[in-house]
Formats: sequence, structure tokens, C-alpha cells
Amino acid sequence: MNPNKALWEKGDFTRIAESMRESGEALVKSFGIRKGLKVLDLGCGDGTTALPAARLGADVLGVDIARNLVEAGNRRVVKESLTNCRFQEGDATNLHELADHSFDLAVSIFGAMFAPKPFYVAKEMARVTRRGGRIIMGNWIPNDPTLVAQILKISSAYTPPPPEGFVSPMTWGIESNVIERFGGAGVPAEKISFAQDTFTFNYPSPPAALVDKFREYYGPTMNAFEAAEKNGRAADLQKELEDLFNRENRSQRKDATSIPATFLRVTVAL
Ligand SMILES: C[S@@+](CC[C@H](N)C(=O)[O-])C[C@H]1O[C@@H](n2cnc3c(N)ncnc32)[C@H](O)[C@@H]1O
Repeated sequence: MNPNKALWEKGDFTRIAESMRESGEALVKSFGIRKGLKVLDLGCGDGTTALPAARLGADVLGVDIARNLVEAGNRRVVKESLTNCRFQEGDATNLHELADHSFDLAVSIFGAMFAPKPFYVAKEMARVTRRGGRIIMGNWIPNDPTLVAQILKISSAYTPPPPEGFVSPMTWGIESNVIERFGGAGVPAEKISFAQDTFTFNYPSPPAALVDKFREYYGPTMNAFEAAEKNGRAADLQKELEDLFNRENRSQRKDATSIPATFLRVTVAL
């Protein structure tokens, strides 16, 4: 089994995505979507950005490596009676099932950054997007002090070292790497722009309950807890994460969580 696929099928990202819906929708509103625009959402999960794009009238294909998330996305589409959105399995490193230049906009929000072989990913995103179209990526930033970068940093400190040659997903949050990777796909640096943006996780329970969701359903955190349990360090990991979530929580209510997280927004104008 492909370890990248196994990681995301192990958990259930739908349970985390519930806290991401509002920011997903707000982000998509900034994409300038008009009716009939052909949109690829790569690493789409259960449709945090794909569904809002379809509601705005785009013709959306969501592609994700995790079968359970593809199924969850298709269930959401049926529930909303959206006829202009569908989800299918695929791997961002090899989108052989998709034709060259077939999308006006390729979006990947915290999705393709988790695929291995980043040069292949950049090449595939550039290949399937038409000339004159756009690629928009949302990538977490390494060592950023806000939520997700810190979850991944803390989790990795408890997880066994990755295999040799492993490229950290966080390297997609470094501008020079993004330029180099799209450069390898024939895209000149001047076509790429960057901005820091914010995504807020909203959850209707206190921060510790959101930590539990990550512990139970978010592949990288599940793996960290599995390793920590073997070493008798699970309580330390739990405490580090609870401290982080409490520190970052901006909700004024005791029974709710609202945590902003900074990410690098990459726009490639092809
Ligand atoms: C953090 S989740 C984000 C999901 C969604 N974009 C969202 O914002 O809710 C990362 C997603 O990337 C997907 N993914 C990871 N590696 C992938 C790959 N090689 N090809 C396609 N999808 C991948 C995972 O299955 C997962 O759905």
C-alpha cells in the first residue's frame, strides 16, 4: 500500500474538516469564480473548497488520494443536489487520468503539499491547467508559530524519523522551493506570487475537544500518538497539544474554539 494513501485513509479528515468550513468558503469567494469555470480541487478532502466553488457555479472535479474522503465528498454533493461537482480518486504526483490544459483553475488548499515528489506535483498541476489559467495553492509554513505548523512540528518530534529521501510537506511553505518546483515545470518565477493569509478553525467545543479530534482522526497526529504510546510519552504529547490549542484559541466563549492559522497563498498565472 502506498504510504501516502495509507496515512490519509487511516484517519477520517472529515472530522477535522468540520472545523474548516467557514474559512474554506471565504477563501473560495476570493478566487473570482464565475459560472462554468472548470476547477480542479487537488487533495480536496471531502470538499471544504470544492463544494463552495460548485455553489458559485464552477464545474468542479475534486481529486484525492484517500478513497474514504472521495466517498464522503460525493455524499455531500448528493446531499446538496449539486450536479456540477464530483469527486474521484487520484494521486497529485501522477494525474494520468486528466487531460493536458483541461482546467481554468487548479486549486490545492493544504492538499497537494502532502504528496511526495513535489517536482512531479508542480509538473502535473501546470500540465492540467490551461495557458491563461491559474493555480492557487494554500500551504502551511514551516516553523510558523500558529496552529497547524506547530501541530505538525510537535507530532513529528514524537514520530520515528521518516525514510531517507522523504521531503517534508512543509517545504511547500517556502517561497524559493515553490519557485524552484514550478520552474522545473517550465513556469517562470515572475508568474508566481505569494501572500500570507489566515485560515480559522472553528469548533463548537473547548480546545481540548478539538485536540481529541486530531488525536482520533488526523493521520499525522494519530501516528505521533501511536509512537508516543509505545514510549510511554502519550501524556506529554497530549499536554503539548492542549497547551498549543489553548494558547492559540481566540474564542471569547468557554465552550467554543476559534483558532486562526497562517498559511502561504501561492498564485501561479499561467
Ligand atoms: C489536510 S487535508 C486537506 C483537505 C482539503 N483540501 C481541505 O482543505 O479540507 C490533505 C488532503 O490531501 C490529500 N492528499 C494527500 N496526498 C495526496 C496525493 N498524493 N494526491 C492527492 N491527494 C492527496 C489527503 O488525502 C487529504 O484529503
